[in-house]
Amino acid sequence: MKGILLAGGTGSRLYPLTKAVSKNILPVYNKPMIYYPLSTLMLFGIRDIVIISTPEDTPYIQRLLGDGHKLGLHLEYRIQNQPKGIAEAFIIADDFIDEDVCLILGDNIFYMGGQFNHFKEEVYKNEGKVSTIFAYHVSNPKHFGVIEFDKDDNVLSIEEKPENPKSNYVSVGLYFYPKDVVEKAKKLTPSKRGELEITDISNMFLKEGRMKVVQMKRGNAWLDAGTPESLMDAGQFVQIFEKRQGLKVACLEEIAYRCGFITKEELQGLIDEIKADIEYKQYLKNLLLED
Ligand code: DAU
Repeated sequence: MKGILLAGGTGSRLYPLTKAVSKNILPVYNKPMIYYPLSTLMLFGIRDIVIISTPEDTPYIQRLLGDGHKLGLHLEYRIQNQPKGIAEAFIIADDFIDEDVCLILGDNIFYMGGQFNHFKEEVYKNEGKVSTIFAYHVSNPKHFGVIEFDKDDNVLSIEEKPENPKSNYVSVGLYFYPKDVVEKAKKLTPSKRGELEITDISNMFLKEGRMKVVQMKRGNAWLDAGTPESLMDAGQFVQIFEKRQGLKVACLEEIAYRCGFITKEELQGLIDEIKADIEYKQYLKNLLLED
């Protein structure tokens, strides 16, 4: 399974925060925003990842994450010149997609509870054949891709930002597709809002009977950080969990270590890079004392 992290867009809803700084590296509590979607890819076991961003923002993201080898990852970078739609990511990353691919949006923050292992099983069960997306219950479905289910939880329709939503379930910014997603993306035409829509891709798989929608139930958090309010909410959410549990959310070094992407010695190397004796460093040192 390969990964695409789509971290482009103009960040216009965060003006003036984004006037001189890339949206994707703005702080969500104590980490840059992009750490959160990257951590989700890593937790799904995905290590080979293309990061797509704007010509302006890519150098900053590259400075932050490099080629990923220190985290046991392989990161590549591609440019999206204009925000022509989420589905354009598959065309931009065409040469990279030689197996199933997971696309995650750069401003989507997940905190998955006890259902996580089930999600992982669902995703990998039908690899190569069927796509998997996730449905989340929200109060304001109009702003998202809305998913309609029948009484047996079969998907009836997926509609992008409908005037009259048929349900409160919406598609989150995490999509798993077989590699023929690239051919499908190339057949798309821009929607009324001038974008290559990810919902159109999902509908193509749905029509072919190759779309599975898994419901993210209570106990899972899905936040985005695209407006000042939601950015603040996301930061507070992370702060509350970290303070209460003494466990970090989206700590990339910890995830790399726990997932077996890096050795003890490599984690020690990352710890040594942190110059100040701060709590983040102490947290990582404690991991080494665990066993
Ligand atoms: O967040 C989930 C929703 O994401 C889904 O429910 C919708 O079906 C899906 O279309 C999408 O909604 P929006 O179209 O409103 O997403 P937005 O334009 O906010 O873009 C999401 C992120 O993707 C944002 O961080 C910017 C980035 N992006 C977006 C576009 C259109 C790009 O990097 N390039 C693009 O061309």
